[in-house]
Amino acid sequence: QDTSPDQLLSAYEAEAGASADLARGQALFTGQHTGGKPDTPSCTTCHTMDPRAKGQARTGKVIEPLAPGANPERFTETAKVEKWFGRNCNSVLGRDCTALEKADLIAWLSSL
Ligand code: HEM
Repeated sequence: QDTSPDQLLSAYEAEAGASADLARGQALFTGQHTGGKPDTPSCTTCHTMDPRAKGQARTGKVIEPLAPGANPERFTETAKVEKWFGRNCNSVLGRDCTALEKADLIAWLSSL
């Protein structure tokens, strides 16, 4: 553990040169997207519409809640966060998330 949700949020905002917006984060997370893999059109495909609840990987494996309010381990390890943003944004959007999108997502998830 080398960071916190607030620290990561500030770092992504600094990288983006802009402020996070939780409504934008919610829209990105709950929206349906094209451009990624057809079987993963949304973050909610695996993390559900309620990130305070447990989710399910494609294999059926349980995913612990993503919202830090429900799972204090979330957004506390920079390498893990970067690894999964990288993998999951590409699965859903077919591209990396921008620094501003990552800030928006953390802002919304932290507000839950
Ligand atoms: C973990 C975000 C879509 C499966 C994570 C983490 C983040 C994240 C930030 C790591 C957080 C941490 O531990 O600190 C997102 C976003 C998505 C998305 C923003 C949409 C763009 C998906 C989808 C799947 C998925 C579609 C299933 C195909 C997983 C799994 C883990 C994970 C298996 C790692 C296991 C775990 O940490 O419990 N996700 N995710 N995610 N996500 Fe997602």
